[in-house]
Amino acid sequence: MQENSKKILVTGGAGYIGSHTVVSLIENGFEVFILDDFSNSHVESIRRVEQICGTSIDFLEADVGDEAAVRGIFEANDFYAVIHFAAFKAIGESVQQPLRYYQNNVSGALNLLKVMDNFDCRRLVFSSSATVYGDPSSVPITESFPLSATNPYGQSKLMVENIMRDLYRADQSWQLSILRYFNPVAAHQSGLIGEDPSDIPNNLMPYISQVGVGRLDCLSVYGDDYNTPDGTGVRDYIHVSDLANAHVKALQALNSEHGCESYNIGTGQGYSVLEMVKAFERASGQTINYKVMPRRGGDVASCYADTRKSTEHLDWKAEYDLDRMMQDLWRWQSKNPNGYA
Ligand code: UFG
Repeated sequence: MQENSKKILVTGGAGYIGSHTVVSLIENGFEVFILDDFSNSHVESIRRVEQICGTSIDFLEADVGDEAAVRGIFEANDFYAVIHFAAFKAIGESVQQPLRYYQNNVSGALNLLKVMDNFDCRRLVFSSSATVYGDPSSVPITESFPLSATNPYGQSKLMVENIMRDLYRADQSWQLSILRYFNPVAAHQSGLIGEDPSDIPNNLMPYISQVGVGRLDCLSVYGDDYNTPDGTGVRDYIHVSDLANAHVKALQALNSEHGCESYNIGTGQGYSVLEMVKAFERASGQTINYKVMPRRGGDVASCYADTRKSTEHLDWKAEYDLDRMMQDLWRWQSKNPNGYA
């Protein structure tokens, strides 16, 4: 089958990572159908992707847990594979609202897998997270590290991974790929699409960029007494367009492979909070006010990927460096100070 005749269902395709992945899919000759309930995304992001790609995109506004809706789109389309992004992702909120998180993230995935099975579509790329490594005993982290989770969000990712592994054990016709993202940042080079948190950002880079554009006053740096070179937390930040390309590579790898494989998607390079502040200031010319605050509960000192497996098996590696990430983030944030609103 030619790439250009392959149609991919992208759940959560209007979201931050989903929208960038839709761009990569279309640029690589795939056809796309988006399913999104717009609970944490905007229809405007689809319009912007259409502008970037110069093509129109079919979508349906529905919840991935809505069986009739999901059946309806499988009846109307012949999907080659599914990329499943649609999920809630705020760790703190997941602690407050565990039922809502398990319902949406776990039941949603179960519903999708059931319908896929019914329609003999058994290729899936799943959006997982480095959060499934819990508090890693060392860095860099390989895919064979022990898995654990410390909050309902992380548990929900781990549960769906386990469901996928069990599914493959029961039926080897499935072709399943689990992508464990490290810390996605930045935006498409056009500045047309990017991250648009619905509330005050929990994550570092959207917080910094909103300070940069004057929407927020001051960054809280959560702890400077970690066992890291400057005492602040170290993470593996990856350009969202690199991350998007990893999904295309994972789909292409599914052509030939049956199984359920997990891959780390990061750069393999860790940067501290203060290094990120400096890099953003360099790219934006803005000064970022910050104050050091106590550690945030649940944070680990250092988290970065061993990326050898994804490089070797998926023929993928991150291309964009830190300065480029910051330039693209600033282009998005300065052109869209209030996001898509
Ligand atoms: N940080 C601050 N101030 C802030 C926000 C974050 O100092 O306002 C620090 C954190 O303490 C941490 C670093 O910046 O050291 C990165 O924090 P993020 O919240 O941006 O990202 P996390 O690494 O905590 O979490 C991210 C995703 C999760 C995912 C996890 C996987 O948000 O969904 O990576 O490792 F589970």
